[in-house]
Amino acid sequence: MNWRALFKPSAKFSIFALIAIGIVIGVAGYFTTQQTLHATSTDAFCMTCHSNHSLRDEVMASAHGGGKSGITVQCQDCHLPHGPVDYLVKKIIVSKDLYGYLTIDGFNTQEWLDENRAEQAKKAMKYFKDTDSANCQHCHTRIYEDQPEDMKKMAKRMHAKNFEKAEDKRKTCVDCHKGVAHVYKR
Ligand code: HEC
Ligand code: HEC
Ligand code: HEC
Ligand code: HEC
Repeated sequence: MNWRALFKPSAKFSIFALIAIGIVIGVAGYFTTQQTLHATSTDAFCMTCHSNHSLRDEVMASAHGGGKSGITVQCQDCHLPHGPVDYLVKKIIVSKDLYGYLTIDGFNTQEWLDENRAEQAKKAMKYFKDTDSANCQHCHTRIYEDQPEDMKKMAKRMHAKNFEKAEDKRKTCVDCHKGVAHVYKR
């Protein structure tokens, strides 16, 4: 790749600039006050670009939207990593979505989401597969060992069987649990 081209005021420059802005926003978001962090990582932030998508309503209607225990799981609880470095890297990827937001025709419409759901789900799924669903496990800490008494028998058995397998043969949460927060389309 010709690195010089990145600094020219061309189409590539704008991508470079967006990534740079992304890093700055990410660093600011992470290292300044907790308030800043929250400002860039609440559902409201995600919904600025996804405002016409049914995503949040879907979460609210799912077990993750409050259900029995009155807990609302936020977008970033599932979609953004917890470690500072990983968090920044993912934020930069989200910054790239700013480019997508500006260039994808009709992105912020329900029609676009309906039409592209399968492809988007696949991309989202990749993150969970690459991280062994770390975000899920951050909350669901008692799936494999120390399972709660009142977990369904079927669930206990499936989880225990999965845990018996060699680590690289094990399935990850989202292999078995699809659409835990959204309408899942294959
Ligand atoms: C409980 C975890 C969880 C929460 C909370 C959650 N998501 Fe997701 N999201 C997923 C998973 C898992 C997928 C992968 C596809 C699937 O299984 O539905 C996904 C997929 C997506 C997709 C790809 C399209 C699709 O429907 O598959 C988008 C966009 C998305 N999420 C945005 C959001 C936004 C915005 C919020 C907050 C309003 C949010 N998510 C909250 C877990 C979650
Ligand atoms: C700057 C606008 C913008 C913001 C802010 C934004 N998104 Fe998106 N998002 C997009 C665009 C555009 C796409 C489609 C990207 C593509 O397919 O190239 C997308 C796709 C997604 C996907 C599916 C594809 C993938 O790579 O996983 C998920 C999940 C997602 N967004 C979650 C979120 C979450 C969670 C937040 C808040 C932390 C958020 N988005 C904030 C614009 C945005
Ligand atoms: C912020 C914490 C949190 C995160 C992150 C989270 N969950 Fe949950 N999840 C919960 C809570 C709380 C409930 C129970 C809701 C209730 O009982 O009302 C739940 C319920 C469930 C259930 C049972 C209800 C159902 O929909 O069948 C499954 C399965 C599940 N989660 C899987 C996942 C997976 C897979 C992920 C990652 C994509 C995930 N969870 C991420 C907190 C979380
Ligand atoms: C091999 C497939 C498989 C894997 C991997 C798996 N589960 Fe499950 N899980 C199941 C089945 C089957 C059930 C029971 C189905 C039901 O009750 O709807 C279940 C049930 C659950 C429940 C509900 C328990 C209850 O008592 O209602 C939660 C929460 C859950 N799983 C979370 C997770 C999380 C988090 C992971 C990843 C750490 C995970 N599961 C990995 C198959 C799996």
